[in-house]
Amino acid sequence: MKQKLVVLTGAGISAESGLQTFRDSDGLWEGYDIYEVATPEAWQRNPVLVQDFYNMRRKSVLQAQPNAAHYALAELEQKYDVTVITQNIDDLHERAGSSNIVHLHGLITKAQSDKNPNLLYDIEGWELKMGETCALGSQLRPHVVWFGEAVPMIEAAASICRTADLFLLVGTSLAVYPAAGLIDFVPYDSEKIVIDPKAESLSVKNMRVLALKAGIGVPLIVKELLSR
Ligand code: APR
Repeated sequence: MKQKLVVLTGAGISAESGLQTFRDSDGLWEGYDIYEVATPEAWQRNPVLVQDFYNMRRKSVLQAQPNAAHYALAELEQKYDVTVITQNIDDLHERAGSSNIVHLHGLITKAQSDKNPNLLYDIEGWELKMGETCALGSQLRPHVVWFGEAVPMIEAAASICRTADLFLLVGTSLAVYPAAGLIDFVPYDSEKIVIDPKAESLSVKNMRVLALKAGIGVPLIVKELLSR
């Protein structure tokens, strides 16, 4: 029986793939205040700006490549029953080969109906255009959880964290709830490891700390876990 290994990742794991984190760049996301581009109100107020913003993000994601950290996490599946819970909306975990991925905040390569969020469509290429509609005839929007919207996968993610024998925390400031609250569902006696250059500033208890970039720290830990 393989041990259950749960990984919670944030923007930091994709930083070395060239994708911006959120709070390392003085609170702006690619130069935008998130309330201008990442809320339902922003979408109502200026859908073209929001659509263009995510088209630019999607173009960057498609041009980015998974880095050593993404690939190392995929290798863990040789020995562990792995679930990657990610706050990221990029598809780098998928492209690196991880097979069990929970996207808490959505996936930028998919579109969703503005009327029914369960109606999802793959986006071909980088651009989702105004005028592209779902089967119900309503405008397609990015399949991304905006600030103020519910996080549909949070209960499933919490249940997964409850089963963790091993828990890795990689590249997240734990600044945004409910995602940040997931660490409280991990059993106290599970082995917990955090990999983040600023890990010392995270308020996490009884965790082993690797204050390293993901591209260095994750392959190191994966090598150790695979040699057990
Ligand atoms: N390797 C590992 N960690 C890194 C690296 C790196 N190369 N570079 C930065 N980090 C760390 C930072 O120290 C920080 O702790 O990654 C974390 C990035 O934190 P945030 O920018 O807050 O990103 P994240 O935690 O994913 O944000 C959560 O907030 O804006 C919302 O929905 C958005 O999913 C996002 C959520």
